[in-house]
Amino acid sequence: MKKILVTGGAGYIGSHTCVELLNAGREIIIIDNFSNSKPKTLDNIKKITNKDFKFYEGDYTNRETLEEIFKNNDIDAVINFAGYKAVGESVQKPLEYYINNVTGALTLLDVMKKYNVKKFIFSSSATIYGNPGTTKYVESMEIKRGTSPYGTTKSMIEIILDDLYKSDNTWNIVSLRYFNPVGAHSSGIIGEEPQGIPNNLMPYIQKVASGSLSELSVFGDDYDTPDGTGVRDYIHVVDLAKGHLLALNKLDTSDNGLYIYNLGTGTGYSVLDIVKTFEKVNNIKIPYKIVERRPGDLACYYADPTKAREELGFKTEKTLEDICRDSWNYQKNILNSD
Ligand code: NAD
Ligand code: UFG
Repeated sequence: MKKILVTGGAGYIGSHTCVELLNAGREIIIIDNFSNSKPKTLDNIKKITNKDFKFYEGDYTNRETLEEIFKNNDIDAVINFAGYKAVGESVQKPLEYYINNVTGALTLLDVMKKYNVKKFIFSSSATIYGNPGTTKYVESMEIKRGTSPYGTTKSMIEIILDDLYKSDNTWNIVSLRYFNPVGAHSSGIIGEEPQGIPNNLMPYIQKVASGSLSELSVFGDDYDTPDGTGVRDYIHVVDLAKGHLLALNKLDTSDNGLYIYNLGTGTGYSVLDIVKTFEKVNNIKIPYKIVERRPGDLACYYADPTKAREELGFKTEKTLEDICRDSWNYQKNILNSD
């Protein structure tokens, strides 16, 4: 069977996607340099699925490493998760972000072209919509420059993919625009484990719940939203992972094309909705204080998920309760295994 190459497969979304791919009977190869993940995750993917796979420890920006993989394996498609993703850090280190994300994707695509592998799935982000002055994001809206170098890497790669497909329509590409991925696998052994103090809401809440941080700072309660706090479309990572399987099926069964889909639930929840649901399902108090707005944050946005539903059959199954329960379950497991 031809294999699916997964770059960044040891990471948060990549590991959950590898589980879904293996459970669906796909054969995979992972490349990761562990810049933001741990080798143990690979063992845990095997433990959950009871399946094995080939792994290359290496940098996907390195042409020789990629050439070795493509030369020695029969690859059908590539899912590209590898990249840096911290918005704030990208402002401090733009070159590192452009090199890792954009040069990495370019090198990967160029090697794919050389080996005539032209099915590609890209991890894009809702950040490419910029600040469009509306709350419900539809794929037909214009791609904007990101609000950070990180965001701009995603916009740039989407534009590159557009040019690539226009130049050669034997490519078959899906770009998936994720909204806010959260939660963890129900086994509790893979999930998101940020290094240092988390920037994102759910990992921060997890650390407050575990007692390693004392309280959550809620960034502003004066937005034009029902309770004044920011509203986002939080999607369970397992639902998101399943979206990649559907995207692969699309590449297997459709005419060549450049397909773009939002992966979100279509529902927005506020910061306080998340805090209250986390407290209720896990029976834990999350102390919080209201502080200034975080620069660059938008008040409210969520996905229009219609296109993914109609063309991929994508539908989220997990609830906000599942998200909060699974996030805490994973955090407890990390604490117990330390
Ligand atoms: P992650 O950091 O957990 O996973 C990325 C993986 O790629 C890590 O295992 C890291 O070690 C690896 N990696 C990074 N640079 C590499 C390189 N040069 N060579 C080989 N491996 C490398 O991130 P994630 O949350 O799983 O995100 C996956 C993708 O989805 C990223 O491209 C990210 O930008 C995108 N995305 C994430 C979110 C989110 O909120 N998590 C939202 C939208 C888009
Ligand atoms: N928030 C807090 N306190 C925190 C962290 C976050 O109140 O400690 C609030 C934010 O103000 C926002 C909401 O929680 O209203 C969600 O914030 P996150 O940082 O979890 O997520 P963002 O929506 O800001 O970030 C996401 C993705 C990025 C992407 C960015 C821009 O994680 O990858 O959207 O689209 F670049």
